[in-house]
Amino acid sequence: MGLALARRLVAAGHDVRLGSRDPERGCERAAKVGAAFGGSCAAAAVDAEAIILAVPWHSVPRTLDTLGDLENVILVDTTNPFVEGSATDLCELPGPSGAELIQEMARDARVVKAWNHLYAGLLRRSVDIDGSKPTIFIAGDDSEAKELVAGLVFDTGYEPADAGELSSARYLEPLAALMTTLDRNSGGDAIHALKLLRRERLGAGGRGREGDGALVAAGIEPPPAASAA
Ligand SMILES: NC(=O)c1ccc[n+]([C@@H]2O[C@H](COP(=O)([O-])OP(=O)(O)OC[C@H]3O[C@@H](n4cnc5c(N)ncnc54)[C@H](OP(=O)(O)O)[C@@H]3O)[C@@H](O)[C@H]2O)c1
Repeated sequence: MGLALARRLVAAGHDVRLGSRDPERGCERAAKVGAAFGGSCAAAAVDAEAIILAVPWHSVPRTLDTLGDLENVILVDTTNPFVEGSATDLCELPGPSGAELIQEMARDARVVKAWNHLYAGLLRRSVDIDGSKPTIFIAGDDSEAKELVAGLVFDTGYEPADAGELSSARYLEPLAALMTTLDRNSGGDAIHALKLLRRERLGAGGRGREGDGALVAAGIEPPPAASAA
């Protein structure tokens, strides 16, 4: 996941630094994707504006420990709290979601959940699926951090969608299990992604009704709703 994301972010012109438990491996991988730096996680994290966490769930605490001071750093959580060795069985957590646990572990960081439900195999292909851009849901409590991550999602070619506060990760993490299941059932082709469909909003406070979206798109003001007596 990390490498595929790094490749896309490098292509979008970002200054990407790759961290690994083995600094030499980090260097090799950085060279492979054209990243500006590769080395240990600690060295890669120095002065980072945002850190993308893309390690197996069971290694999250150890990885966070190596990252040093995370005060104000935007920590992008792509992980899913799967039982070790599984990509569908979610762990029984002592808290509501993996992302919220990560926020507890890295108290000073600004945790944003993103990309967790996109199969890494898709990142290695063209973004569009039959002419449609897949959606990447973003959840976090810090709106500025979410805005930056939405920009990164956009730069990787996907469509960001605000899923709300970090607690929405409770809904996003099971989605990853769904996507893995769909992928397995279709023979591991990495062909499935999520797309959020949204009806156009009507005027301030207006609620869409069946058919209103089509009228608005055609430049026609929908008639007012009949008031209930
Ligand atoms: N693969 C996907 O399609 C996908 C999609 C969405 C989200 N995710 C999430 O992204 C995270 C990473 O997934 P992945 O498929 O990229 O995992 P992965 O290939 O198994 O591991 C990614 C990297 O994590 C590092 N790592 C650190 N501690 C480790 C440990 N104890 N055991 C193994 N590797 C360790 C390894 O790099 P070094 O050896 O260089 O340290 C490894 O190359 C997971 O939490 C996953 O749920 C994955």
